[in-house]
Amino acid sequence: MTSGEQPAPYGSGTTSTGRRPGRIRTHHLQQLKDDGGRFAMLTAYEQYSASIFDDAGVEVLLVGDSAANNVYGHNTTIPITLDEMIPLCKAVSSSAKRAFVVADLPFGSYEVSAGQAVASSVRLMKEGLVSAVKMEGGRRYAPYVQAMVDAGIPVMAHIGFTPQSEHALGGYRVQGKDTAGQAVIDDAVALAEAGAFCVLMEMVPAEVAAAVDRAVPVPTVGIGAGNATTGQVLVWQDMMGLGTGKSPRFVKQYANLHAVMSDAAAAYAQDVRDGSFPGPEHSF
Ligand code: KIV
Repeated sequence: MTSGEQPAPYGSGTTSTGRRPGRIRTHHLQQLKDDGGRFAMLTAYEQYSASIFDDAGVEVLLVGDSAANNVYGHNTTIPITLDEMIPLCKAVSSSAKRAFVVADLPFGSYEVSAGQAVASSVRLMKEGLVSAVKMEGGRRYAPYVQAMVDAGIPVMAHIGFTPQSEHALGGYRVQGKDTAGQAVIDDAVALAEAGAFCVLMEMVPAEVAAAVDRAVPVPTVGIGAGNATTGQVLVWQDMMGLGTGKSPRFVKQYANLHAVMSDAAAAYAQDVRDGSFPGPEHSF
């Protein structure tokens, strides 16, 4: 793929030069921003979701620390550790053939120093096989981003509402309202200047996210941040309707997997109880 060419959507066959589109790289995401395009990002934590989303053409897969909630059953993202993230990263990275795979630096794996951030990122890339890391936090982390980028680690910055700081922020709350909007823009500019290849914003007013997108040259991603960002991200269990709890306002539900799986499990259990499964066709 030449540098001026848009990455073709997955499954669309070949590029205009007749070659199959290759793996998505940071420069393809940058090209999308430069060309006024957009890209999709979803979380993934294991092989089936990763390969389904990859085949469907989702450009970026995030092994989010939301695995704390969606894999390990915690109420917040805080408890998940680097050691718990790495096997999930490896499963997703090994299953995605085209998507760009990014992993979260979990809480406690980077805050102490730039050196700690580099060392934890190296583990995610070397053992988890991901292509980039995402790090929560504002301009205080700009020197860390610079050290990580110097070490060859692509960094996606995560600003606005940062779930690892939910106790410090007083719960799930929109960040950057009214006069606080400028601080979000300042965070984004500092992190992009430090070398972040992308800035993700969570739960910020749409006009603040739009101003960030104008203020930084790199692509932006939104979750609850309106429609002006280069990319959008959702947690897959939320957008597929796997859970039963109340969804945040920013989630659009595209399927009802909870009902599909619950009906299938109940039908299977009933078949076992009444003796209709296994039938002769399932027996040797
Ligand atoms: O861990 C995660 O799923 C995330 C998204 C909410 C962006 O960080």
